[in-house]
Amino acid sequence: MRAAAPSAIREVRSPNGPIVFKVRNAVMNILFMGPPGAGKGTQAERIVDEFDIPHISTGDAFRLASKQGTALGLKAKEYVDQGLLVPDEITNGIVKARLALDDCKKGFLLDGFPRTLQQAEALDVMLTELGHSIDHVVDLKIDRGLLLARLTGRRICKTCGSSYHVIFNPSKVEGICDKDGGELYQRPDDTAEKVGTRLDEYSSKTAPLLDYYSSKGLLREVDGEKDIDVVTSDIVSCLKGTL
Ligand code: AP5
Ligand code: MG
Ligand code: ZN
Repeated sequence: MRAAAPSAIREVRSPNGPIVFKVRNAVMNILFMGPPGAGKGTQAERIVDEFDIPHISTGDAFRLASKQGTALGLKAKEYVDQGLLVPDEITNGIVKARLALDDCKKGFLLDGFPRTLQQAEALDVMLTELGHSIDHVVDLKIDRGLLLARLTGRRICKTCGSSYHVIFNPSKVEGICDKDGGELYQRPDDTAEKVGTRLDEYSSKTAPLLDYYSSKGLLREVDGEKDIDVVTSDIVSCLKGTL
């Protein structure tokens, strides 16, 4: 069952008197939760276009830093390659720096952060310091049994990072990105063994956050098992307060 989404309308008091204006909240700050393979990245690409906000994926940030060979990237790689969560102090630092950039003033979509209670609490502090707050936490719900096929069949563009699936969302030409002709590759942590570790990390450390956000009235559950286009339209409806 889906939680009811609160209105994105906020009240603004007139500086000259008691009149209260109701205005649509122009800033949309969103978190995407859900296990590995739930469709966070796929849906995030579409939702950031719809709302014109930056997409902040900690997984993408670690893969980029690791490709660039920075000290942080090489440290993170030790964990990512094993399917384990990167330590909170490393992860929190990159998110804090990213959220402080100017483009986040118009809103943001955090994909894959927070993943531990410590990260969630650190995020609350960061947002308070920056004068932001979370509007919606979207949980993409999917049965664990479907995730292995999704992850082992995933292919990613080396150039733009777009995500495809050999069966569920194939590129027009096998191995080539539709958007820019980039070469598609398979993530090294998308093997059956690593997927098992990632799912265990999710169950023990991240799933408990759903209660944390539910108790704050922020959790919106969306069925992630439907077709990709249907999931997108359900998320948009949910964010606009009609689902
Ligand atoms: P990250 O890159 O975030 O990986 P993840 O959470 O394991 O999630 P995925 O990216 O695998 O799945 P997704 O939900 O984005 O699914 P996608 O849309 O691609 O993190 C990687 C690693 O970085 C972590 O393991 C950890 O080491 C580290 N890390 C990251 N954040 C961290 C944090 N906060 N703290 C500590 N460590 C952190 O879809 C999957 C496939 O399914 C695709 O092929 C897609 O085409 C297909 N698909 C999508 N939707 C559908 C649909 N509706 N129907 C059919 N197929 C679909
Ligand atoms: Mg992803
Ligand atoms: Zn591409």
